[in-house]
Amino acid sequence: MSLRNKINNKKMPVHVAIIMDGNGRWAKKKGFARVKGHEKGVDAVRETVEAAAELGIRYLTLYAFSTENWKRPKYEIEALMNLLVESVNKERKTFMENNIRLLGLGDLKSLPEKSYNGLNSAIQETSGNTGLQLVLALSYSSRWEIVETARRLAEKVRSGEMESMQITEKTFRDTLPSASIPDPDLLIRTSGEYRISNFLLWQLAYTELYFTPVLWPEFNREDLYKAILDFQGRERRFGMTSEQIQQQKSAS
Ligand code: FPP
Repeated sequence: MSLRNKINNKKMPVHVAIIMDGNGRWAKKKGFARVKGHEKGVDAVRETVEAAAELGIRYLTLYAFSTENWKRPKYEIEALMNLLVESVNKERKTFMENNIRLLGLGDLKSLPEKSYNGLNSAIQETSGNTGLQLVLALSYSSRWEIVETARRLAEKVRSGEMESMQITEKTFRDTLPSASIPDPDLLIRTSGEYRISNFLLWQLAYTELYFTPVLWPEFNREDLYKAILDFQGRERRFGMTSEQIQQQKSAS
């Protein structure tokens, strides 16, 4: 039986988030410049998005550029920004044809004007699409997001719109810049690194983590299927006991 056929369509993760890592190491291994690794990484993005849409995954979040990535050499940042806007422009037609909605998460205003405008216009154009919600985390870091949320709440308290006692897990969550996106069910990190790297720290509280040694440019749909199968074999207890989970299942 193919890996695809082993996947239970009824137990599909609603939200899959991916830390795409290993572009530089892939390029080095092949004797190419780092930027070539990012270019090849775009092919892996395309294949993963296509596979996720076919599987009926509702949300796919890709960590495309972190706040810390601004510390990289200038030419690499420029290459990544150009690649991003070129890829988004190239895929706009595919997004529309496949009902894919593009969303941005992060300090998008800090992107170069051309990248910001290109991204924003694709976000606007696809805003009515109801299929796969493709979230690009750009100039994103979780600590940035949490601080941003604290600022928003502080401003509401200062202006009298809410009281400090009304700051709860729920109001905090609903104020996050990513408030419209459910918490990920599955996080995948490629390239054999076991870190979260400032990604969705609040949202990952009960997420299943999956690490693979595959370098991002070599990640393909079969690798995505393997991650989903692994996820489907796990019991998610959310702090409860196994017996409680079984009781909940038989009651529903
Ligand atoms: C990590 O590899 C990858 C990135 C920092 C950028 C990811 C970007 C892309 C795949 C291309 C553009 C994306 C979209 C959504 C069109 P690394 O450079 O950290 O690799 P290394 O750890 O091996 O050096």
